[in-house]
Amino acid sequence: MKKDLLSVIDLGPAGAEQLIEEALVMKQGGMRCLLPWRSVALLFEKPSLRTRVSFDLAVAQLGGHCLYLSPQEVGLGQREPVPDVARVLSRYVDCIVARVFSHDTLVQLAQSATVSVINALSDVEHPCQALADFLTIRERKGRLKGVRLAYVGDGNNVARSLALLSAMLGVDFSIASPSGYQLDAAAESSARRLAATSGSSVTLTGDPFQAVKDADVVYTDTWTSMGQEKEAAIRRVAFADFQVNAALMSHAHPDAVFMHCLPAHHGEEVTSDILNGESSAVFDQAENRLHVQKAVLAQILIPAD
Ligand code: CP
Ligand code: NVA
Repeated sequence: MKKDLLSVIDLGPAGAEQLIEEALVMKQGGMRCLLPWRSVALLFEKPSLRTRVSFDLAVAQLGGHCLYLSPQEVGLGQREPVPDVARVLSRYVDCIVARVFSHDTLVQLAQSATVSVINALSDVEHPCQALADFLTIRERKGRLKGVRLAYVGDGNNVARSLALLSAMLGVDFSIASPSGYQLDAAAESSARRLAATSGSSVTLTGDPFQAVKDADVVYTDTWTSMGQEKEAAIRRVAFADFQVNAALMSHAHPDAVFMHCLPAHHGEEVTSDILNGESSAVFDQAENRLHVQKAVLAQILIPAD
């Protein structure tokens, strides 16, 4: 049976933990030709730097080949229905890595494709980002269980994947968002259910200082995600008190790490001194996309014995 990765939940806690450990080994061990001659389609409806480059190199380093398909070329759901695109690509490639506006498009792709589908960012989740982030936390802190992760900002795709993965792996997760931009109720309840099993906590607040108090990791993301550009002005006002700066970081643990998935908007969600400062792990996060995605591809595409 093919495996898809649409949400971090698809991995299960043991699978996610194993994947992060495998990514650590891959990072230390360099290239291994685990996927000779395999083909992967990168089907993107939105722009990308990190995801496109790191998936392309991950597949190449494992001995396979990537094809990048831009929105203009494919016209997902416009030039051709999504299920037809899924069926056609399944005749050519071994895996579809898709970045889409609507998560429903991913679900349709996964339902119709006979090959694996990996979420390279949707409006609901960004699982590969969260996995790379947890690899980074594991490297920086030497563990995951019991780490306190504070997220300040929009309850968006990145926040959702981080909340769920935290709850799966025993990381205490707190999130501070302005009214109207909190984590949605379904994600909150899934995170609470998973946290009850792993023994971690999930805290939602409107106060960034409360969220970051004694945190080991302070994380933020853009106030305006791709596809929300028309809301940028209104969001800048709503999020004005949710900037990660030196004053906010001083409430975290003295050894706290700053994280951001990038691209960052210097002077909006984070000040340049924090982004470029000693506590910042943002470029490790970007590098770790490569290592963790090699582990994802190997776990999804190589059949278990
Ligand atoms: N963090 C991330 O997914 O970056 P890109 O949008 O550049 O791929
Ligand atoms: N929340 C951001 C993440 C970009 C990697 C967006 O969806 O645009």
